[in-house]
Amino acid sequence: MKQTIIHSLILAGRQAPSADNSQPWRFSHVDNRITVEYDTERLAGLTFGANEPATLLSLGCVLENMLQAADFIGVEVGWYLEDELSIGNAVLHLTIPLDCVHNEYETELTFSGHPLFDRHTNRFPYRSTLIPVSIMPDINQFREGTARIKLLDTPKEIKAVAALARQASEVRFQTQEVHEWLAHSLRFTRQEAAKGDGLDIATIPLPPGGALFMRYIMDWKWMSRLNRLGAYKLMAALDVKPIEQAPIIIAFIGGSAREDIINVGQLLTRVWIDLNSKGIAVHPYYVVSDQLQRLLVGKVPAQLVSQIDKVAAQSAALLDLQEHECLHMLLRIGYPTRDPIRSKRLPLEAICNM
Ligand SMILES: Cc1cc2nc3c(=O)[nH]c(=O)nc-3n(C[C@H](O)[C@H](O)[C@H](O)COP(=O)(O)O)c2cc1C
Repeated sequence: MKQTIIHSLILAGRQAPSADNSQPWRFSHVDNRITVEYDTERLAGLTFGANEPATLLSLGCVLENMLQAADFIGVEVGWYLEDELSIGNAVLHLTIPLDCVHNEYETELTFSGHPLFDRHTNRFPYRSTLIPVSIMPDINQFREGTARIKLLDTPKEIKAVAALARQASEVRFQTQEVHEWLAHSLRFTRQEAAKGDGLDIATIPLPPGGALFMRYIMDWKWMSRLNRLGAYKLMAALDVKPIEQAPIIIAFIGGSAREDIINVGQLLTRVWIDLNSKGIAVHPYYVVSDQLQRLLVGKVPAQLVSQIDKVAAQSAALLDLQEHECLHMLLRIGYPTRDPIRSKRLPLEAICNM
């Protein structure tokens, strides 16, 4: 099927990763410009807000995908960020050379070889096989603006980062808002998953009966009751077990201004695409960054603040964070034991003003 460049770039942008597969973007286009903005109507109150770091990371991921696709087609595009005037949301604009706007491309042909369409999350166990050093130095070279990465690969570092994730995850399972966002995202049946957004339960490794248990505890009423018996400790232990066993963790670090976070999103996707293209599986963990951000904006429950204060101090020391830097994402990486089910995407008519 033939596509214009606009259509092709939107298909590439749509493929970006997002927290709980919320796909917080809405695409539109006028003449030679594609605009990407937060879909307030679809998402307000159900996931991260428009200017929160998780959303800006995703916007950076969309940008990276579109830039890689444009480069692949051989078209030089420009981009800039803007404040949406009335509410101050970040808006991304991509500009395409006027003489290319009406060119048609064989999308199937153009993109069939592009690894951005094969990037995916793998939450299943990884093999203990080490990743050859011949791959990792390359990864260390990746930079984008103020964004950088740090590899954690010694047993001491892995243990330290797993302990931080466990502390953050314990708080996460005692946080009603985050819990209810997850409950809203989980898709328990084939029919629910077919809609194209949210987290398909089949992408999460669970023991027999695990899906039923998840359904039950997704009701905050039950989770909070079980928490009185210490359920959050069990959930956090299960959540971070894969980190404890990971051969390597990659930390994504950058500034906290909007442009800095977009840079981190770009770098995150670039590294992720690269690793997947080399047969290395990737599993993001946002829980530490999320709790640190919640601490900054006063959203950690009062009785748990001291726990996240410690996570902040220990992560700064472990990652050699400079004063202006913060941790934006952790990736567990390794050789996969299985090919996971791929998350779907919403149809274009749901995310695009045609
Ligand atoms: C900002 C952000 C935070 C994420 N946090 C997590 C996380 O904590 N745990 C997890 O398993 N996946 C996490 N993911 C991965 C998304 O769930 C995943 O990208 C989405 O479901 C789409 O699936 P795909 O990556 O296979 O395309 C995160 C992704 C982004 C961009």
